Amino acid sequence: MALDGKLLARARERLAQRRSENQRESERRRREIYARVPALRELDAAYHALLRDYIALVGTGGEQEARLRETDRRAEELMARKAELLRANGYPAEALDGVYGCPRCQDLGYLPGGRMCSCLRALYEAERAGEQSRLSEAGDRGFDAFDLGCYEGKDRDVMELTLSTARQFVRDFAADSPNLLFQGGTGLGKTLLGRCVAAAVAKAGFSVAFETAQSAFSAFEEQRFSRDPDLSAAAGERVRHMLDCELLVLDDLGTEMSTAFTQSALYQIVDSRLNAGRKTVLITNLTDAELAARYLPQTVSRIAGEYDTLVFRGRDIRAVRRERRYR
Ligand SMILES: Nc1ncnc2c1ncn2[C@@H]1O[C@H](COP(=O)(O)OP(=O)(O)OP(=O)(O)O)[C@@H](O)[C@H]1O
Ligand SMILES: [Mg+2]
Ligand SMILES: [Zn+2]
Repeated sequence: MALDGKLLARARERLAQRRSENQRESERRRREIYARVPALRELDAAYHALLRDYIALVGTGGEQEARLRETDRRAEELMARKAELLRANGYPAEALDGVYGCPRCQDLGYLPGGRMCSCLRALYEAERAGEQSRLSEAGDRGFDAFDLGCYEGKDRDVMELTLSTARQFVRDFAADSPNLLFQGGTGLGKTLLGRCVAAAVAKAGFSVAFETAQSAFSAFEEQRFSRDPDLSAAAGERVRHMLDCELLVLDDLGTEMSTAFTQSALYQIVDSRLNAGRKTVLITNLTDAELAARYLPQTVSRIAGEYDTLVFRGRDIRAVRRERRYR
């Protein structure tokens, strides 16, 4: 099965967090044990010095057999004394070994030989389930989740029009539908409405992709540059889906780090989807002028000519909710 690169990246991130938590915990235990039994610190230091000798000896090659055997013997001696000291102080023999959530791969996610470990696979499946439930939640509640009571006065009139245009877009979704640009400040419901649209169109049986710009562009990059064949194949599949699906919702456009590569990736998305008559919803905080400054003129002119703008107005709903909580 091909893996979704974005979900895999998130799963790897979770594993990396787990790994560094465990490393901190290992360190903490080691310091505690050293403090109680200082002789153990000296034994460990002697052991590491021996290890360095050993590596140096192997490096020189030649007639070192006898010295290597001697080093081996002393290493075993040190290990035995360490185990004895641990036992005498009431610790289990492996008390100074690293702490791992998964002893099979030591929290690296891959086994020797490159096969994916079951712990990383489990994290990946959890990410996938989470993503699905977020979209199907939006699907279940539909546009009811979008509350016009969040906006006041004239803003509400604007948002009423925005909402009804989005509903109409979903109702009449077809080859001659317009493309949409969601434009407005932070915390005004753009992502929420984008999810509602994506879920409703998917429910109607169309193929849909919902991506953030950052993650979409990194799929383009991974497909091109990744040395990990699993990752680049998964990325390639995502890129194809983004280009081929009947509706693409691209969220947070303009938050990605802008490079010649991301600019040409956006051009490719916009241009190839227009040519194929596939519909796209772009979501951004940027104004027209900012879009023009950031992206290629060919991209900007296609957006200006072929997209209907839905304006988002109001007070940052995240901030409003925060204020209410403290009142
Ligand atoms: N019309 C609405 N009805 C109910 N909840 C809303 C509405 N608009 C926004 N919210 C809630 O407010 C929060 C921010 O909304 P959202 O993430 O959609 O904002 P955004 O416009 O995408 O912001 P940003 O530009 O920072 O990405 C979310 O928790 C969202 O569920
Ligand atoms: Mg958003
Ligand atoms: Zn593992």
